[in-house]
Amino acid sequence: MERDAKLYADLSKVLVTREEIHAAVKKLGQQITADYQGKSPVVIGILKGAVVFYSDLIREIDLPLRTEFMAVSSYGSATKTTGVVKVLKDLDRDIVGQDVLIVEDIVDSGMTLSYLKKMLTDRGAASIRIVTLLDKPARRRVELKADYYCFIIPDEFVVGYGLDYDEKYRNIPDIGVLHPRIYGGE
Ligand code: IMP
Ligand code: MG
Repeated sequence: MERDAKLYADLSKVLVTREEIHAAVKKLGQQITADYQGKSPVVIGILKGAVVFYSDLIREIDLPLRTEFMAVSSYGSATKTTGVVKVLKDLDRDIVGQDVLIVEDIVDSGMTLSYLKKMLTDRGAASIRIVTLLDKPARRRVELKADYYCFIIPDEFVVGYGLDYDEKYRNIPDIGVLHPRIYGGE
């Protein structure tokens, strides 16, 4: 998609370009390849936000990995998060004794991943590490550290490269800040 494509009109700015993303994803893939030598990790993509990042990342990991996906949603309203996560789509196979990598689009409050990590630990994974494209540390509500990340970003609502607003903008190749007028701001 060209940078003057119509979808870009809803962004106030591009925060991370596709070139920066591709370079960071490649480097991350090499890092994971080195760290997991001799292992066959199970790489779990969290639907739907992580799919674009996931598909690029696994092609940069030179290991006999296994792919899995999970879809989750937070219980309760947006204003009153309980931290409990509802599993909408579960793993196809069990992960007992496996080295697990959870791939997420963004760590915001940290509630989703903190719950998921505990759940997968209880299911008997040998190890669990968190891989995220973006990290927004300013918004953290629970203590959670990503083991691998590509970019730390400020507290702004971003879309593109898999991230959505109301299921839209996932297909923008770059990561951009959504213009406040789209969600009723100024
Ligand atoms: P949390 O870390 O449990 O608060 O949840 C992270 C989830 O919130 C992500 O998987 C995204 O779906 C969503 N999210 C948080 N910040 C953004 C953003 O800036 N743009 C798009 N989605 C976001
Ligand atoms: Mg989302």
